[in-house]
Amino acid sequence: MKKLTSLCGFIVLVEGHMKMNVPIPYGRSTLENSPLALDGADFPCKQRPGVYAVEDASNVYALGSTNPLNFTGTAVHGGGSCQISMTYDVEPNKNSVWKVLTSIEGGCPARDQTGNMGSNANAADPFQYEFTIPSNIPAGKGTIAWTWFNKVGQREMYMNCGPLTLTGGGGSRANFDNLPDMFKANIGNDCHVPDNKDVVFPDPGKEVTRLNGATNAFHAPTGPGCDSAAGPGPTPEPSAAPKSNKSNPESYLIYLIALNVGFVV
Ligand SMILES: *[C@@H]1O[C@H](CO)[C@@H](O)[C@H](O)[C@H]1NC(C)=O
Repeated sequence: MKKLTSLCGFIVLVEGHMKMNVPIPYGRSTLENSPLALDGADFPCKQRPGVYAVEDASNVYALGSTNPLNFTGTAVHGGGSCQISMTYDVEPNKNSVWKVLTSIEGGCPARDQTGNMGSNANAADPFQYEFTIPSNIPAGKGTIAWTWFNKVGQREMYMNCGPLTLTGGGGSRANFDNLPDMFKANIGNDCHVPDNKDVVFPDPGKEVTRLNGATNAFHAPTGPGCDSAAGPGPTPEPSAAPKSNKSNPESYLIYLIALNVGFVV
């Protein structure tokens, strides 16, 4: 993509973007820094060959712990809003149930920036963040995800995933089910984040960090798909599925089976 930048001035539109560095993503060697496809075709986790390859560490966290979050890249698009979410699926698919652990509204993945901090896709993003694992959810294996709605530039959704192991005990599935659903927008699901805004999540959960960007521009998302987060079942598929088709018994069954498998593992 660099060659495009030398041809024209649309740096914000075509420059490389950002990747999650810590937690360590799955398939780092095949993970590009681009957003999800605009029609949601590669949701979740940027589907590709090797998407769930565990290449280095496995992100082991104790229930109740607070843990570091940081990024690689300098094309921060003025920051925006991020979430850290998880599923108990070790190889999530589009029916996986993602629940929010921490929401960061504004200033993520960079604070006080009006645009990009540079164009070096491999440089460390100096800003450090944290997320919290609830103490009352089940231990076990799953997948952790960072999602990002950039403030400036093309309307996009980023999603990087990594392996997850939660240690400890005593938590309950009901507590997990009661966490908010991961917010989705800009992937063909009739929910949009306005340009030049730090999106305010409709249901951010209890762990919310609000950081100012260079401009104070918090704003709700727009569109009928934004409030698709009712109930513990899977949210509608990002593309194709009509919005009225909110409950899908078949995929809910798959979800239940997946949960049971997750428990046994
Ligand atoms: C990211 O966080 C980890 C864990 O705190 C830390 O060791 C590392 O230096 C950080 N990396 C960057 C690039 O800031």
